[in-house]
Amino acid sequence: MKFVVTAGPTREAIDPVRFLSNRSSGKMGYAIAEAALAAGHQVTLISGPSCLTPPEDVQFTSITTSDELHDEVHRAVRECEVLVMSAAVSDYKPVKVERRKMKKRKTPFALALVPIRDILASLPKKNRGYLVVGFAAETHNLETNARKKLREKNCDLIVANDVSKTDSGMESDENAVKIFFRNGKTKTISRRSKKNIARELVKIISKM
Ligand code: CTP
Repeated sequence: MKFVVTAGPTREAIDPVRFLSNRSSGKMGYAIAEAALAAGHQVTLISGPSCLTPPEDVQFTSITTSDELHDEVHRAVRECEVLVMSAAVSDYKPVKVERRKMKKRKTPFALALVPIRDILASLPKKNRGYLVVGFAAETHNLETNARKKLREKNCDLIVANDVSKTDSGMESDENAVKIFFRNGKTKTISRRSKKNIARELVKIISKM
């Protein structure tokens, strides 16, 4: 099968030296890409800025902004059987990117932001020829929020993880996840290495 995996953070420029981003390391997405390759699948990995080395044999695309990720995802899904959206996409971007470095101010000020379009929600809702796996990064009400994302982003399954923990989730080599399926079923994978979780996920996806 052909997998498209997105990984890592996006960056939204404020001025030539500053950006809005998040703590995503890309480890979960890169591990999924590796596990899919190891299981004999073809993999396109679309990654935001990350210190990781892409696995050999993936078709690799590097992106920086959420708009670039949006365009690459729409291009890549034309020829895939599985889309795994593990990238941590920014939710907002500055209304305007300053051309010159903003000078330091002595008083508080507000940075005007606009919401960014949701990539998963922008995909076709019906008759798509690929399975869509979303992620949900939650600090609270994990179950309610994950089920809402599954529904509203029209995913086939959503992999939820608690990102308030320091020993798993963002930046860590380990994770613990709960998977929510469309038919209401769930599967919990207790804390273990992201590589191990990735292998489990690829098995589940392949069966579907
Ligand atoms: N996602 C997306 N486009 C965005 C934001 C997120 O496609 N603009 C995808 C992510 O790749 C992930 C899923 O949506 O697969 C959930 O992302 P998450 O950050 O958990 O949730 P948000 O939709 O950003 O909502 P909130 O910040 O309110 O939790």
